[in-house]
Amino acid sequence: MEEKISNKIDIDTIDIHSIPPAEEPARQYYYIKKCRLLLQEIKEREGRELTCNVTNFGCQMNARDSEKLLGILRSAGFQETDSEDADFVIYNTCTVRDNANQRVFGRLGVLNGYKKKNPQMKVALCGCMMQEDLVIEKLRKSYGFVDLVFGTHNLYKFAELLYRCYAEKGMIVDIWEDTDKIVEDLPVERKFPFKSGVNIMFGCNNFCSYCIVPYVRGRERSRAPEEILREIRNLAVDGVKEVMLLGQNVNSYGKEPAGTGFLSFPELLREVEKVEGIERIRFMTSHPKDLSDELIEVMKQSKKICRHLHLPLQSGSTRILNKMNRRYTKESYLALAEKIRRAIPDISLTTDIIVGFPGESGEDADDTIDVIRKVQFDNAFTFVYSKRTGTPAAAMEQVPEKEVRENFDRILACVQETARERVKRFEGQVLPVLVEEINEQDASLVTGRLSNNTVVHFPGDASLIGEIVDVKLVRCEGFYYIGER
Ligand code: SAH
Ligand code: SF4
Ligand code: F3S
Repeated sequence: MEEKISNKIDIDTIDIHSIPPAEEPARQYYYIKKCRLLLQEIKEREGRELTCNVTNFGCQMNARDSEKLLGILRSAGFQETDSEDADFVIYNTCTVRDNANQRVFGRLGVLNGYKKKNPQMKVALCGCMMQEDLVIEKLRKSYGFVDLVFGTHNLYKFAELLYRCYAEKGMIVDIWEDTDKIVEDLPVERKFPFKSGVNIMFGCNNFCSYCIVPYVRGRERSRAPEEILREIRNLAVDGVKEVMLLGQNVNSYGKEPAGTGFLSFPELLREVEKVEGIERIRFMTSHPKDLSDELIEVMKQSKKICRHLHLPLQSGSTRILNKMNRRYTKESYLALAEKIRRAIPDISLTTDIIVGFPGESGEDADDTIDVIRKVQFDNAFTFVYSKRTGTPAAAMEQVPEKEVRENFDRILACVQETARERVKRFEGQVLPVLVEEINEQDASLVTGRLSNNTVVHFPGDASLIGEIVDVKLVRCEGFYYIGER
């Protein structure tokens, strides 16, 4: 295996008495060191260690960002704890649906209670929700105990903001409108030693009419392929077997910023395949409008790309898809699903569905049900439409709640029925499982995933975590399997 190459900076050599460097990431390493010294003083004064807690409310990209936050906190000298009764608590928020939003405000009250008992405690908020003006207004007005607020575009500045949070008084708010910058090589603390998300692009340019993501994550920009590959090689040296390439629409990887001559997504996959030590490659999310024949071909040829494709449908009605600005039709989606299945018969297809988009009728829901029956998804995440201020759909006429409920229940029932049938198809077979953790309910079992992402529970112990082992799929229980070695 090749040697670990890193551009990371050696903190010991930094001189904190000189002025802060202007360039990144050197500037952030400078602040990590400043934080270390400052926190050391507090620890000595208090006669104890300082703890931190990071909570993630959003998607896989948000989860990856949380690993970066934790990386900085650990480098600065905090010890991680499971409890939110900690010295530094940060919520990495999501605003894709209103319920994610409400959960944050609900839990902030609890943090205030902890803070009253612990004068050392700092509360920080970041992530997608913070990119909304109304949220910031509300925080300033009614949540004065929050110490630090920043958004999605300046996450790489966390070390500097953390320092300011301790050096200055009052609520620090730093939100940027957008950025074209990608800063690499800051500390990261992975949740799992054997698998990792890897950002390949940031932002989104699709502007689906219901979706807030383009407004809070900014314009689409891809990371340079050599940076991505360098990160993946380092991960492999570090023991990672599975990588998940992350982007809001990975199929448009390499297109923005224009004129860079970056690889296309299928070309990038071919390069990732060559990285020794990586055994499984996943990616999320694939927009149906941009899924190329070349991608299907690369998946088919590959030994490492997992037999799973998450292909968000959103709606099966062409009329609604059009109003959603999804740029495909019911028929083209069905044709695409069939083409994929024909090329890779054992593949699992999963999807996202929104129920109750403005103007959606019972007949539109029938169309969605028709697609579910025809495609036979292994799983479908079904969401009630949530009105997001500032998106075009928010100004359209909304569907009465009762109607939404009825359609939701019908669609969910159909998803459960078809998925149950579909997932079962491997019953009795022996297939490789990457073991992820001890089962949460029953400590005599371990939990892992098949290549196609289906969960398997089987008897085993902690020594199997991170290993890929052959498991007999004894019994299918709806969305998961019970197995044995
Ligand atoms: N970029 C991905 C999706 C990211 S958001 C894609 O294009 O598929 C994840 C999922 O949240 C979406 O697929 C959609 O089903 C859901 N979602 C987004 N906005 C929503 C809204 N306003 N109400 C309900 N669900 C929404
Ligand atoms: Fe949202 Fe559409 Fe972009 Fe996905 S592709 S993040 S649904 S705007
Ligand atoms: Fe939520 Fe932001 Fe992801 S809004 S779904 S955390 S990109």
